[in-house]
Amino acid sequence: MKVVAGSASPALGRRIAEVLGVDFLKPEISYFPDGELRVQIPEFQDELAVVVQTTYPNDKIIEMFLLQDALREMGVKKIISVVPYFGYSRQDKIFNAGEAISARAMAKHIELESDAFIGIDLHADSILSWFSVPTLHKHATGPISDWLRDRKVDMVISPDKGGFKRAKYVAEATGAEFDYLEKTRLSGTEVIIKPKSLDADGRRIAIVDDIISTGGTIARAAEQLRTQGAEKIYAVCTHGLFIGKAMENMKKVDEFASTDTIESENSRITVAGVFAEAIKEMETKILKS
Ligand code: R5P
Repeated sequence: MKVVAGSASPALGRRIAEVLGVDFLKPEISYFPDGELRVQIPEFQDELAVVVQTTYPNDKIIEMFLLQDALREMGVKKIISVVPYFGYSRQDKIFNAGEAISARAMAKHIELESDAFIGIDLHADSILSWFSVPTLHKHATGPISDWLRDRKVDMVISPDKGGFKRAKYVAEATGAEFDYLEKTRLSGTEVIIKPKSLDADGRRIAIVDDIISTGGTIARAAEQLRTQGAEKIYAVCTHGLFIGKAMENMKKVDEFASTDTIESENSRITVAGVFAEAIKEMETKILKS
């Protein structure tokens, strides 16, 4: 087995290979004059390839397909597709007539050249139902809890009810209390969070979410906690998109971090160990079949 990472996930791919103790291959990625991508993978003789590629932004999706195709061309028998951040996952149903179920379209195309799929903190479990190959859905709560444990937090908050389970798990793992806020989304960039009285005075509080996109959710939650006297506020998420005014919004907290599902200067937590475990589990499963 070897790990091949696309240009969206080079650091995570290398870390996964290190944890697994297998070779890491970095393909050559270049562009033709018309903007089309070209990938080239160094010599590959193994039967099993693990392709690690976040499918965001759009170019990285094409790169994923080209990497899978190149590996098949080189005779690779089994491909495990590891997608650290699954782009288009938030459009997982029809909101307005005539729309695509984008998450389904992505799943169908990723699986065309995959023998297995592994994701982490996917927007919805239903995404797995669109794959016919074996799948694993893992969570970043372990590495996130480790990061927060060092910061000695007293309370873990989910900014919405949907993330309640995640906050509860992290709170239990760090020995903190947990709670959730009630968020209403007004638009792609605006949210309101209903005031809620919390025992925040003088305490160290972590806001834990699956995604930080514009950072609006974190900013509104932090404002409330600050008003209620929180001593320190941390924000941590699995997938850190940090778009638009996100960096300005992050100034509302004392410290923040995301995992390396989306690589940036903010991705200070690695999920390599989680993926390495999942790959070992999947390897046993698909080599038997
Ligand atoms: C929404 O359901 C997600 O859990 C996040 O809370 C959301 O994507 C964050 O978006 P933003 O950072 O733009 O507020």
